[in-house]
This record gives sequence, C-alpha cells and structure tokens, in this order.
Amino acid sequence: MADTLTITDNRTGRQYEVPITNGTIRALDLRQIKLNPDEFGLMTYDPAFQNTASCISRITFIDGDKGILRYRGYPIEQLAEHSTFIETSYLLLNGELPTATELESWTGRLNQHLTLHENIKKFMEGFRYDAHPMGIFLSTVGALSTFYPEAKLIFDEEARHTQIARLIAKVPSIAGYAYRHSLGQPYIYPDPELSFIGNFHAMLFKRVGSQYTSDPVLERALDVLFILHADHEQNCSTSAMRGIGSSQTDPYVSLAGAAAALYGPLHGGANEAVLRMLAEIGTVKNVPAFVKKVKDGEGRLMGFGHRVYKSYDPRAKVIKQTAYQVFEVTGTSPLLDVALELERIALQDDYFVSRRLYPNVDFYSGLIYEAMGFKPSIFPVLFAIGRTVGWIAQWQEMLLDKDQKIARPRQIYLGEQERNFVPINERIKTEP
Ligand SMILES: CC(C)(COP(=O)(O)OP(=O)(O)OC[C@H]1O[C@@H](n2cnc3c(N)ncnc32)[C@H](O)[C@@H]1OP(=O)(O)O)[C@@H](O)C(=O)NCCC(=O)NCCS
Repeated sequence: MADTLTITDNRTGRQYEVPITNGTIRALDLRQIKLNPDEFGLMTYDPAFQNTASCISRITFIDGDKGILRYRGYPIEQLAEHSTFIETSYLLLNGELPTATELESWTGRLNQHLTLHENIKKFMEGFRYDAHPMGIFLSTVGALSTFYPEAKLIFDEEARHTQIARLIAKVPSIAGYAYRHSLGQPYIYPDPELSFIGNFHAMLFKRVGSQYTSDPVLERALDVLFILHADHEQNCSTSAMRGIGSSQTDPYVSLAGAAAALYGPLHGGANEAVLRMLAEIGTVKNVPAFVKKVKDGEGRLMGFGHRVYKSYDPRAKVIKQTAYQVFEVTGTSPLLDVALELERIALQDDYFVSRRLYPNVDFYSGLIYEAMGFKPSIFPVLFAIGRTVGWIAQWQEMLLDKDQKIARPRQIYLGEQERNFVPINERIKTEP
C-alpha cells in the first residue's frame, strides 16, 4: 500500500487522503481542502522556502545533519582529491564522469570559447575605476545575451550546448577583465595553450610584456576551490537561476540574475565579508570582545551558519586543509590565527553550539584567496566562476523537467480591502 497522509479538516469533519512520495506531499493536493466548492482551497505558507521542495533533482545531494555533500553521487572529498574543475563540470552537466576522449573534447570545446568579443572591452571601460568587480561581472554576463541572440533557442539541444560551453569558458575571462579594470590595468587576452586555471591566473596577474607562470600548488588549490563551489543544490542563487529561467529567458540573463543573488553578504558575498571582519578584529586578543558583540545581536559571525548544514560544512574541512598547502607556498596569513581563534571559541560557546552554527565554505576561502594575491572584492566573483557550472546544470535540468512551469508563488493577502479613490485635496495625512 502506498504511503498516505490522512488530514482531518476540523471545520467540516471531512477527511482527505494525500499521497506521500519521496518524503513529500504535493502542495496542490491540499487545494481540494476547502469549505465551499468556489473557494480557492488550502495553501501552505513557507516564507524563505524553509520546508518546500521546488523541484526533483538528480545533481547534488546534501545531508545537512551528517555534513555530507555529493555531486551525482560522488563524495565532495573524493572529487576534491582526484578530480579537476573541468572534469567535475562535465560530471555535473552530464551525470557521469567523462572518459579520457570525452574529457579531451570537452576541454577543447571550452578552450574554443575563452575569448570575449572586443566590444565587451569597450562595454567594461564604461564602469567607474572603483566599480565592484561583482557588479561588472554580472552586468557583463547579462550583456553577453545581446552578442548571442541564438541563445534564446533554449530547447534546441545543440544551440543550448554551445551557450553552456560559452558561459563556462567565458566567465573566467569576464572575471579577469573585471579584476584588471578595478586595478586600472590593461586586460590580458586568454591563452588556450595554458590550463584552464593557469590561463585564469595569467589573465589576472600577468604583467604586460612579461612571461607568467602560475605556481602548481596555487593552481591546484584554485581548481579545488572551484570544485567545492561548483554546485550546492537549491541555494538562493540557484533558485534565482531556475526561477528566472522558468520564464524561458536565455541562459546569460538568467545567470546574471543568479550572480546578483550570489552577491549578497548572506550568500556568496560572505567570503569578502569574512575577510573584512577578520581584518576589523585584527588580533587574537580582540576575538572574545567580537564574539560578545555577535552574541549581543550586533552583527553576525560571517562565514558561520548555514540553512542546510547543521554540522561542519564538508567543504570548509577541505578548504582548511587546502589553506595550509597554500600557506606553505605564500607564507601564512596574519589573519589565520584570528580565524582559528574565532572558530575555537565559537565551537565551544553555547550561543553557537545551541544554534548549530559551524564554519561554512566562506570562512577559510577568503584567507586562501588573499594569500594568492586576490583583492577581497574579487572573492564573490571567484565563487561565481565555480558556481556557474551548477547554475547551468540546474537550469538545464529545470528546462527538461516536464513537472516545471513558470515559477510563480502564491501569497497571503492581508492588505486593505477594496476602497474608493480619494482626490488629493481631500486626503488627511495619517501618522506613520
Ligand atoms: C547562512 C545564513 C544566512 C543561514 O540563515 P538561516 O538558515 O535563515 O538561519 P537564521 O538566520 O534563522 O539563524 C538561526 C539562528 O542563528 C543565528 N545565526 C545564524 N547565523 C549566524 C551567524 N553567522 N552569526 C551569529 N548568529 C547567527 C540567528 O541570529 C538565529 O538566532 P535566533 O534563533 O536567536 O534568532 C546565516 O547563518 C548567516 O547569515 N550566516 C552568515 C553569512 C554567511 O556566512 N553566509 C554564507 C553561507 S554559505
């Protein structure tokens, strides 16, 4: 017998049998519960979607209590140890790890699309010298839509696959230009002869007219960071990607919206906020006073807490190990001690323990980026490069899912009932 939920409506005494599938009931099954036939029927109220599954997905699995994260079934720790960002992107998009030939062809395809149209440079020059790279990034990704009008053919498999390769290949190039713009330095063209990450490093750090070779340890560390950020199921920005894409926009404008959602300090902007917080704390001796301020409700401990993880974020564990490898090359960061002390105190303090607040992916990533030579304002853009793959994989899954339609939540209206318009000279000012 199938699992069902029996609901008794105390208003009418009627009973309803609602099927339970995959641990969920269908919200639409509640609509039959009503007092009169002409009523709308029962809805659920779930601000911030804390208990609502908006889709069926086969991409990423998270168990927040146990601290488990898997892409297409593969544990994140194994991917971080053995895979590359390019290989992981293939896995997320296609569901399986590539064979050697498939990987070669996927890498070649991406290399083909690294270059940006020359007009993108002119477009970027319009930004103020101190424009935040994330603002430049998301505007430029949106602007790509105007360069590739065929991107509107979202149900044409071949056209869609071309846009997917373009996006994954071009976001590092956009990030590189955005970063150089914020430093007032000339843009560096991509070089397909280099590795994906080596090319990105060169686009950021190369001096014009001189050779640039990136350090293999730092290259690998950034590769791992991109793997760790590549997808995280239905987070705020991915939900934005799916929501915008559900109106059948092209992937560039959908991704610009997703990047905008990522920009906020509660999401991908947290890595930048962590570094600013650590710098503000300054030294280990100031940590207890800062923790007290957080407990008194004066701000949050950035890089701590998560909607889904109620234990140590598995990505934070990998990042902490990676940080030590990076510091062996770059020298340690003076802020590492502040971060370690914050973590030590928070993990013992009842405020954080009782709320199950643990370090998340953003707590240590900023320290690594800083040690690698990145300015904090580029940190959210680095997050966006990795997450682009997840956004696209989720967007494609949404497009091909027969259950999906344009995303359009309901509301509970508690505002004024109908009333007549009052001419301006008859209005009485009401106190706020
Ligand atoms: C990630 C985050 C937005 C999740 O938010 P959420 O699931 O809506 O959780 P809530 O905001 O309801 O928090 C639950 C409780 O923990 C507290 N809390 C959550 N994160 C906290 C933090 N970083 N510092 C201090 N207190 C925090 C809240 O004040 C709340 O306390 P209360 O029950 O006394 O009101 C939140 O933990 C946060 O703001 N973290 C800092 C930003 C960050 O690192 N973001 C990156 C996420 S990868």
